[in-house]
Amino acid sequence: MDKRQTSARKIMITSALPYASGSLHLGHFVEHSQSDIWARLLRARGHEVKFLCADDAHGTPIMLNAEKQGMTPEQLVDGIREEHWRDLQAFGVSYDHYHSTHTPENQQLVSEIYLKLKKAGHIESKIVEQYFDPEREMFLPDRFVKGTCPKCGTEDQYSDGCEACGSTYDSTEIKNPVSVVSGATPVMKESKHLFVNLKNFESMLKDWVASGSLQEEVTNKLAEWFEAGLQSWDISRDAPYFGFQIPEEDNKYFYVWMDAPVGYLACLKHVCDNNGEDFAPWIDPKTEHEMYHFIGKDILYFHSLFWPAMLHGANMKLPNAVYVHGFLTVNGTKMSKSRGTFIKASTYLEHLNPDYLRYYFAAKLSDGLVDIDLNMDDFRQRVNSDLVGKVVNIASRCAGFIKKKFNSTLSAQLHNQALYDEFISHSEEIAELFENRKYNAAVRQIMALADKANQYIADMAPWVAIKDEDKQLEVHQVCSTGINLFRVLMTWLAPVIPFTASKSAEFLNTDLNDWFAINDPLLNHGINKFKPLISRIEPETLDAIIEQSKQDLEATQAAQTVKTGNGQLIADPISPEINFDAFAQVDLRIARIVDAQHVEKADKLLQLTLDIGDETRNVFAGIKSAYQPEDLIGKHTVMVANLAPRKMRFGMSEGMVLAAGPGGKDLFILEPHEGAQPGMRVK
Ligand code: MSP
Ligand code: ZN
Repeated sequence: MDKRQTSARKIMITSALPYASGSLHLGHFVEHSQSDIWARLLRARGHEVKFLCADDAHGTPIMLNAEKQGMTPEQLVDGIREEHWRDLQAFGVSYDHYHSTHTPENQQLVSEIYLKLKKAGHIESKIVEQYFDPEREMFLPDRFVKGTCPKCGTEDQYSDGCEACGSTYDSTEIKNPVSVVSGATPVMKESKHLFVNLKNFESMLKDWVASGSLQEEVTNKLAEWFEAGLQSWDISRDAPYFGFQIPEEDNKYFYVWMDAPVGYLACLKHVCDNNGEDFAPWIDPKTEHEMYHFIGKDILYFHSLFWPAMLHGANMKLPNAVYVHGFLTVNGTKMSKSRGTFIKASTYLEHLNPDYLRYYFAAKLSDGLVDIDLNMDDFRQRVNSDLVGKVVNIASRCAGFIKKKFNSTLSAQLHNQALYDEFISHSEEIAELFENRKYNAAVRQIMALADKANQYIADMAPWVAIKDEDKQLEVHQVCSTGINLFRVLMTWLAPVIPFTASKSAEFLNTDLNDWFAINDPLLNHGINKFKPLISRIEPETLDAIIEQSKQDLEATQAAQTVKTGNGQLIADPISPEINFDAFAQVDLRIARIVDAQHVEKADKLLQLTLDIGDETRNVFAGIKSAYQPEDLIGKHTVMVANLAPRKMRFGMSEGMVLAAGPGGKDLFILEPHEGAQPGMRVK
């Protein structure tokens, strides 16, 4: 059962680097909790872990924020980094180091990577026309130009989309554009930009995806992006810009997203240099060292396309996996400032133990991309009933007897060794669930066993037996069994609730950070005084957090750049759910395939002619890997009839047929039973 004999792996784990543009909020802590639990688990399993993060310091918003606050960008990012690191530590996030992207290591690494890409012919330059603020003499990113929506006429909309009517458009289409920076009317101006030619990496990226270490939803999203075609990536920005100058260029800067992921390596290099360890093996393509990135679904494009391409182009090792999580909602909706559900980490920490939230996130986190809802009532009940009512209760029911009656020493034998063995028999399975990031399932198992432990103590009722002179040994052994079961549960939970675990370790007079130590129970072992480990969450505390958050944000609103899910994104966030109304809008119809043809120069598509009763549709379907055109003719299938027509390189596609399967030969169009007639609606 002891797995320590298998050799220790060397594992680098990162979380996405928070922007140095505002305070950390509970949304960020979904990710920091997820990655920290993983890092702590792997350490407890005996592996050598480098758990790393940093502030993402560069970019136009940070430059302008600093100016607004009358400081240099360096001063601003130093201050924010300190605040972030303080919050992270207070939350128990155990980074080996928290770096910044504005550091010498990062400048050196990003320049090196860029020059290697350039030398290998992956960099091209193009003239780009962009809004320019003539007063401030600076180019304006989309979010820094506002105007009137060209579609519905609503004023004061960002130049990349309208919040009133929901349309997106090219920034040049907006009416009456105004620079957010100075209020001046921007002009269009040309400038040379540098691009990474992503197409050069297409086959390498496809191999990487096919290697199978990505989540299924991620693989599917990537397939869509490949299908849509990879675009060259603009990596340069003109001065003034807060960032690193591009070598061998005149006054051009690396776009923030170019040096941000390099920040992962810069942090690692800093740690290696400080410890006198070798950095090179971590990035050697042939290395056995492992590299994992935890990220949110909004930044998938950068991490699954750009970042591997950069690494590969620079002849560096690719990530073993990128683990993507969903977004945090509070009480069922997006975090909202006015509702007080946009909660800063520091506000939470003023009121509550971080373990509560870490536990709640763990109880909800899976290996998928689904959003995580923090429902305040559910949060309170769950923590109170699981952590206080089940786990800690085991110790508090047994500790008093051991102290008062048995000299604070556990018995020489357990009363129920079989129950203890049963617990231990789950240890590897629980470790595996954690390692596979199925934290919710791991927590469920642990709580089921906690129930068992409580049931055992209730059955044995030591508080009754203690009154019987003949049952003193039994009580000693029963309570010692209870305390040993508590130790097992707490060792499994230690990655999730490190503060409670460390208080428990003090009480148990043992280390709880070794997954394998529990294989042997504590016998004849002295323990310390039991102090209450945690207390129940009261509704008033949660009300106070909400109230304070409303006030917090009024104060800082002006200074904050809040991620809205719009501006920074170049890819659609993947939403795991639609409501019924959205579903009801999909017009699904039975179609008869009256013709099917190969499409010249398309390696995935077939051109289908579909009869849907009252009309015929031309549809391009990516099912060539699984079907010969002649085999399809005459079949019935299901199509989405009201999908907006899409212009493709080969012609107009007027709808979509439904198919299922992992891909390649294993792709199946839906074939309704005989009797279905073209045009029938699917209900
Ligand atoms: N600076 C970039 C990341 C660069 S990584 C080389 C960035 N920063 S961020 O501060 O906006 O987000 C940091 C991480 O927090 C991202 O993984 C993001 O998905 C995550 N989250 C930010 N808001 C979140 C929620 N509301 N819910 C869950 N995760 C969220 O993106
Ligand atoms: Zn509009």
